[in-house]
Parts: sequence; C-alpha cells; structure tokens
Amino acid sequence: MIKLGLLGFGTVGTGVYTVLKNNKESIRRKVGTELEIKRILVNDLEKKRSVDISRDLLTDNVEDIINDPEIDLVVELIGGEEPAYTYIKRAINNKKSIVTANKLVIARYEEELLELARKNGVSISFEGSVAGGIPIIRPLKESFAANKIEKIYGILNGTTNYILSKMTAEELEFDEVLKEAQKLGYAESDPVSDISGADAAYKITILSSIAYETIVDIEDVYVEGVKGIEAEDIKNADELGYVIKLLAISKNTGKGLDIRVHPAFVSKAHPLALVNDVYNAIYLHGDAVGDVMLYGKGAGQMPTASSVVADIIQTAKEIFYKSPDLNNNNTIISHKIIDISEVYNSFYIRLQVVDKPGVLAKIAKVFGDNQVSLSSVIQKVHLEPAVPIVLVTHQVKESNLKRSINEIKALDDVIGVKNIIRVEEI
Ligand SMILES: NC(=O)c1ccc[n+]([C@@H]2O[C@H](COP(=O)([O-])OP(=O)(O)OC[C@H]3O[C@@H](n4cnc5c(N)ncnc54)[C@H](OP(=O)(O)O)[C@@H]3O)[C@@H](O)[C@H]2O)c1
Repeated sequence: MIKLGLLGFGTVGTGVYTVLKNNKESIRRKVGTELEIKRILVNDLEKKRSVDISRDLLTDNVEDIINDPEIDLVVELIGGEEPAYTYIKRAINNKKSIVTANKLVIARYEEELLELARKNGVSISFEGSVAGGIPIIRPLKESFAANKIEKIYGILNGTTNYILSKMTAEELEFDEVLKEAQKLGYAESDPVSDISGADAAYKITILSSIAYETIVDIEDVYVEGVKGIEAEDIKNADELGYVIKLLAISKNTGKGLDIRVHPAFVSKAHPLALVNDVYNAIYLHGDAVGDVMLYGKGAGQMPTASSVVADIIQTAKEIFYKSPDLNNNNTIISHKIIDISEVYNSFYIRLQVVDKPGVLAKIAKVFGDNQVSLSSVIQKVHLEPAVPIVLVTHQVKESNLKRSINEIKALDDVIGVKNIIRVEEI
C-alpha cells in the first residue's frame, strides 16, 4: 500500500479524493497496490465539506503530513506561492515525491525543485498545472520525445477565452461579458491574473521549459492582456476573416526562443479559431510528428483531478516498483530569448483620423519610411468628424512598427490609435 498526504481540500482536492474513491479498483490494478489517503491538510477544520469524509482525516497541522514517515507521496493543491512552495520543499527534503497543480510555483521554481527532487531521489510531477484536464506535460516529455518541438500555440486561459468567444458571438463589450462571467463562476471575483495574461504566461513558461529542455524565466515572457479588446475590433477581425484569441505562443526559431502571450488575430480557417467558451487547446509542431492539436477542458474540478490522479498513479508506480523518475535528467540547454522588439509579425491597426484629403497619404508615408508595408487599408463608415481607418501590415519587425506608430500619433490629423493587435499566421 502507498500512503498519500493531501495538502488542500478545495475544488481540485475534493475532485482528487472523489476520483481516487470512485476508481479505487482500477487504480489499484494500474499501480499494483492500493493507494490510501492518510491525512488531508486544510485551513479551516470547521468548514462544511462538499464530500462525505471522516473528520479524523483532516488536519490543520502540516507536520502531520510532511513529517509522517509512512507518507511517501504528497499532493499539493493549496495553490499560490506560500505556504505551498515551502511545504513542497520540506516534503521533498523528507524524501516524499510530489504531485502538484500549482503553475505559479512550477513556473517560478521548477529548476530548484527538480534539482532538490533529484538530490533526494524522489519525483515532482505537475500535469494539472497547465491546461487542466488536457494531458500535455507528460506527452511533451514522453510521447513527443522523438521530436524537436518547433512551435507551440496555446489557448491556455478558459476565462479570457470565454469572454472573447461571448464578445464575438453576441457582439458585446468586454466589461459586460466579464460581469456575466463572474456571475456564472467562469471568472474569479479578482480576475486580474486571467485578464492580464499572467496565468497563460505561467503555463507557456512551463511548456517551453519542457519542450526545449531548458529553464525559461517568466520575466523573459512578453505578456499583454485582453482588456483593450473592443467589440469593434472583433467585428473588424470577422470582416477580415479572423477571430481574436488570447494566444500563448512559443517558438524555437533556431536563433532563439520567441515566447509571448497576447491577443492575436487567428484565421477562421485554423482549428484554434473553433476553440470557444472555457475550452483550452494546444497546437504544436514537432519536426517528426508535424502538427498536433490537443483540445479539452482547461480547468474545473474533475478535469483537473483527472490530470492530478494520472500523476499520482505514475508516481505511486515509481514508488511501489522502486524505479526512479526517468524524466528528471539534469540536462539544461541554454537558449537565447528573442526580445519582442526583434519579432516579426503582421499587425492590425485601428486609427481615428480627421476627415480631410491627404491624411491617408501622410500615414502611408510614415509606414513607408519605416519599412512597414501595408497589405490592406479599409476606411470604415463615416462618423463625423472622425473617420475610422483599419490597416493590416505585411510581416514587419516590431520595433519598426512601434516607431511608425509613434510618428503617426504625432500627426496633426490623427485623432488616436485605438488598437494594435498582432496577426498570427499559424
Ligand atoms: N480550480 C481549478 O479549476 C484548477 C485548475 C487547474 C489548476 N488548479 C490549481 O490547483 C490548485 C488548487 O486549486 P483549487 O481551485 O482547488 O483551490 P481552492 O478551492 O481555493 O482550495 C485550496 C485548499 O487549500 C487549503 N488552504 C489554503 N491555504 C492554506 C494554508 N495556508 N494552509 C493549509 N491549507 C490551506 C484550503 O483550505 P480550506 O478548505 O479549509 O479553506 C482549501 O482546501 C491551485 O494551484 C490551482 O492553481 C486549479
């Protein structure tokens, strides 16, 4: 028998408990021995729990788990940086293997924790930390191991995907949809991490580190959120044959890693354009396998529990058969990170200009002077005295685009640059 300790018994913790209970027999067969949850750490012992559970199983003292020599496997489902990070380190130092769904701790401390696990002869697994129920961490380490991964495109944040899908389907503005999403429980009362792109940045940091056998510093990931997207941009995207998605992008260009999170125009013909509501997807290209897309529920109690329990089963097998974690080798390949100013993209630009002859020519000259060529120019419906203009560029270097925009903003007849969104040709 293998004994587990759970740190946290909230949404995912109760899901893990339920899966381990409901599928006990098949899990026992897969591991080769029974799994028993010995103790569960919670914050509030008096809280009413959504599952029927013996009160004796609960504790509010972490020492009952990380200092219990009978417990071989600790499942961290508290979330956030502290105390989760400290508890994970202490458990590893006490020779316990770890399963966690904590994207923040893994994105920030993966290198240190893997090294600590190696030293202590234990493992750390984190399938639940990226894209909830979609298996991607272990596939990257095992099923796609033959490949050089060249590109990863992810829709990795369900909240923002729900908001953008709803804005698209019902022609609504961002704030309206956000309020509704909060009411329905699809967005947290404090949605900053989702909307700012930070949540997706943690996840693409983790995927990139695994895909390119490196350690990516989250500070090197360019991040832009979705708050500036307006219904008008979504309508323009539609007219041009695109939808707007918050994309997490990671490319190994051969000259460095290009890793970023931002809203992007995605062609309606691409499968990622069909990923709507709270669903997540990962579209990747490996040199041998070609294009692969994984699609599913990127969060939620049972989908996340599915990934966490898969890690528990794998880790329990390693413990039971006394076999080491063969995925935790210590090879770290060093890669240059390409700064966003050096990246080439097409751009959608929405301007408001004064209705006067010659304005468009002045704008075109600024772009031309900065080596920015335009693929389309659309003058929208006349709204006196301002005229909305939509431009799409060919592939241009980000720094050249920025320079032209600064010069365009300074032109007398330009009222404002309303939005700039990258067009991602996947
Ligand atoms: N929810 C999802 O859909 C989802 C999806 C993917 C990944 N994840 C990740 O899974 C992890 C858990 O998320 P969750 O949604 O299950 O969180 P949650 O519902 O907020 O549950 C957190 C649990 O941790 C306990 N806890 C909090 N602070 C503690 C402390 N200082 N000491 C001891 N216990 C403490 C809480 O105790 P009480 O119950 O007593 O309050 C609760 O049981 C997070 O890393 C999250 O990012 C979640």
